[in-house]
Amino acid sequence: MYNDNPTLSGLKKEIDESKQGEVFFNEDPEGVTVAGSKHFYIESYGCQMNFSDSEIVASILAESGYHPTRNMEISDLILINTCSIREKAEETVRKRLRIFDKVKQHRPGTLVGVLGCMAERLKSKFLEQEKLVDLVVGPDAYRDLPALIANAEEGDKGINVFLSREETYADISPLRLGSNGVTAFISIMRGCDNMCSFCVVPFTRGRERSRNAFSVVAEASDLYENGYREVTLLGQNVDSYKWENPEDSSRINFAQLLEMVARIHPDLRVRFSTSHPKDITDEVLHTMARYENICKYIHLPVQSGNSRVLDLMNRTYSREWYMDKIRRIYEIMPDCTISSDIIAGFCTETEEEHQETLSMIEFARYSMSYMFMYSERPGTLAERKLTDDIPEGIKKRRLQEIVQLQTEISLQHNQQDIGKTYKVLIEGNSKKSDQDFKGRNSQNKMLVFPKRSDLQPGDYCYVKVDDVTSATLIGTIVD
Ligand code: 5AD
Ligand code: SF4
Repeated sequence: MYNDNPTLSGLKKEIDESKQGEVFFNEDPEGVTVAGSKHFYIESYGCQMNFSDSEIVASILAESGYHPTRNMEISDLILINTCSIREKAEETVRKRLRIFDKVKQHRPGTLVGVLGCMAERLKSKFLEQEKLVDLVVGPDAYRDLPALIANAEEGDKGINVFLSREETYADISPLRLGSNGVTAFISIMRGCDNMCSFCVVPFTRGRERSRNAFSVVAEASDLYENGYREVTLLGQNVDSYKWENPEDSSRINFAQLLEMVARIHPDLRVRFSTSHPKDITDEVLHTMARYENICKYIHLPVQSGNSRVLDLMNRTYSREWYMDKIRRIYEIMPDCTISSDIIAGFCTETEEEHQETLSMIEFARYSMSYMFMYSERPGTLAERKLTDDIPEGIKKRRLQEIVQLQTEISLQHNQQDIGKTYKVLIEGNSKKSDQDFKGRNSQNKMLVFPKRSDLQPGDYCYVKVDDVTSATLIGTIVD
């Protein structure tokens, strides 16, 4: 096949080297070829929501007779689920499209489809700019994929970027191809109604809508029955989840949904992401405290530690208000860990304001953070109303200071765990050695420890922490 051809083996190397996204695959690492069937290959970039969407897409395609493969050279359909959050994310996608183009030249007839946020943002521009793209499908239009593919096979390029007020894909059972069989994501809502001035998401994913609570519980129960032991409830802003039952007009909020899922089984762990500080309620915090299987971990992005910048970002809380929220979380759950997203060098940010972001990291004692340089996005409030005036060099230096401080705080946070014993859910082999397991504690910290022959992925065990790095706890199983 492919590898025997010198041009193509060179191409294979290029394919692998430029890849940064995740790929779905069959059990066979080479990808199974199902005789007489069509195959699709999908790569995902961006947030967990996008990965979760790719599982919905995989399910829709499987229904119409396509088999998944991780071998793009044998696939009839190459899909890329894209992210628009920062310019760099879009650049990566364009690089991947160049590679797909080469694959297509060797295998004429292969269709290339762009899904997700970049499809939504650029719409038909994609078809004009990128001649090789056959399909452009936005996050709410995946049900239309089979029809669009059928048309594209006939030579008609297809586009559907319609944003819906209702679509939640509630009835679609995701195809969990890249899964470890232990942990899974469940999308509980779509879209976002917050208007953070830096953010492109409200434009790419549309209005906020919540999924039928009973379909969420049914999906989680099903996962538990199939051996999964952890579900993460996903949404751009999970705390504003609200679903009204059309049958009796009763309403279910996020705290109630959390409780419904936690009650499925005490051995099914529940996590959630992402929380907006303005929306996370005491009711949610008390529900978390009440159930051992609701993990004591909150991703609570601060974005900036300064009130003026927060106001420009339209985050609707001040530094002091956020600090009160942090105090409240530690008061109700002293063993809870908190993580954050932080943006360095937002429009007009001064050196003193940047210092306030640094001091917030120390105050909140984040176990970890995702840290970014500000990247202006077309169409956002910030792009229209503010000037992206912090020079690249200063943004870089501020980001470096943030990363350095967070690494120190993470290390200190982990060092405090030395000598403690945690209940850990085993997820699989550690990355470095198949003699070691990896798994997380309730606080979402990754632990690595020598295997014991009577234990396997999906089991719980108790691990005593002996040593740490800023990213991992290293331990041994105790009885
Ligand atoms: N520039 C940099 N970072 C951004 N984020 C969102 N938009 C931008 C942007 N324009 C970050 C925020 C958000 C995370 C998902 O990405 O911190 O919480
Ligand atoms: Fe990227 Fe945001 Fe879209 Fe997720 S929702 S894929 S982070 S732009």
